[in-house]
Amino acid sequence: MTTRRLVLSRSAAIVGAASTGLLLPEIVRAQSAKVRVGFMLPYTGTFAQLGVAIENGVRMAIAEQGGKLGGRDIEWFKVDDESEPSKGVENASKLVQRDKVDVLIGTVHSGVQMGIQKVARDSGVLNLIPNAGVHAATRALCAPNVFRTSFSNSQPTLALGEAMVKRGHKKAVWITWKYAAGDEAFEGFKESYTKAGGTIVKELGLPFPNVEFQALLTEIASLKPDAVACFFAGGGAAKFIRDYAAAGLKGKIPLYGSGFLTEGVLDAAGPAADGIITTMHYSDSLDTPRNKQFRTAYATQFKMQPDVYSVQGYDTGLLLAQGAAAVKGDLSNKAALYKAMEGAVIDSPRGKWSMSKSHNPVQDIYLREVKNRENVVIGTAAKALADSGAGCKMG
Ligand code: PHB
Repeated sequence: MTTRRLVLSRSAAIVGAASTGLLLPEIVRAQSAKVRVGFMLPYTGTFAQLGVAIENGVRMAIAEQGGKLGGRDIEWFKVDDESEPSKGVENASKLVQRDKVDVLIGTVHSGVQMGIQKVARDSGVLNLIPNAGVHAATRALCAPNVFRTSFSNSQPTLALGEAMVKRGHKKAVWITWKYAAGDEAFEGFKESYTKAGGTIVKELGLPFPNVEFQALLTEIASLKPDAVACFFAGGGAAKFIRDYAAAGLKGKIPLYGSGFLTEGVLDAAGPAADGIITTMHYSDSLDTPRNKQFRTAYATQFKMQPDVYSVQGYDTGLLLAQGAAAVKGDLSNKAALYKAMEGAVIDSPRGKWSMSKSHNPVQDIYLREVKNRENVVIGTAAKALADSGAGCKMG
């Protein structure tokens, strides 16, 4: 009670000062006793599990750091963004304007991220992106207050093309959901595959989050490529893997993908996933003490296996904790906060990584194969891969 009264009277004084124009509303917000952290993630729809895995990861990392940020307690807020781009700005504004969060953690879907990006740029609120790979977020629309802890959409597939050609697959069909994530994953694939001497015989697509794959699988069967490469994720990915096998293509036309295809879906996909080869900045089987300790702790706490989304959430928590510690919890000290986050080296279960100048991870990309419900590392497809950051000017 005492604390609350203290906070109220202190914020009343600050609001008084603000109304005389002495303080900006932003400063009023930064002075409140608890750090306000908002999750804007999908908790329904085809990416629902991704949102949960990310939130689990963030909470676990912060709990391991003592459950505080730079010595301050945390108040959590949550919005289900439903992976619905048309509500992106509105949902981000709920957290920023209504809940007055100090940090917005979100999101998964590239189209929804475009809404967050706008709100983050307009308001100056710190935004940590724990998944959405949309290029613009760390290229033309990059911002000092936006940091991504995951990947850019073309990063995993830039490592895929050469791996496929090396395995003798010279003619491929590409298939994806037609939206920013699929289109930009294709950019990476096209560059790497054609450079290595491969030919893309056909690009196939369907709208997100449609899962009526049948007609497209029939077309793949008649095209008879050497291999298929794709971008799908979440519930839709599990269905694609099962439908691919049910259509009789498994074992005839090898299936490749950016690694999201086989993340968090291996139980749902079952044996239909065996043998799928993907490229990704994480693998379940990474044989390091850091990864093993993380996997055991996560499985014990949440009663399920972690995946790349849990890792990205975890790293988001680590980054935020490091930044907050550097400014002793004073998140209004933006210059020092951003400098600490820009210089952070994240000791991740995926391996250590650092931020590029445009605030995207510089990271290794692994080649993995699904064996018995696990993404097993079979090689390194790229070392210290950075996104180009093309067009990024930190204002
Ligand atoms: C995206 O929309 O950026 C996205 C969604 C799910 C993934 C990867 C990327 O697994």
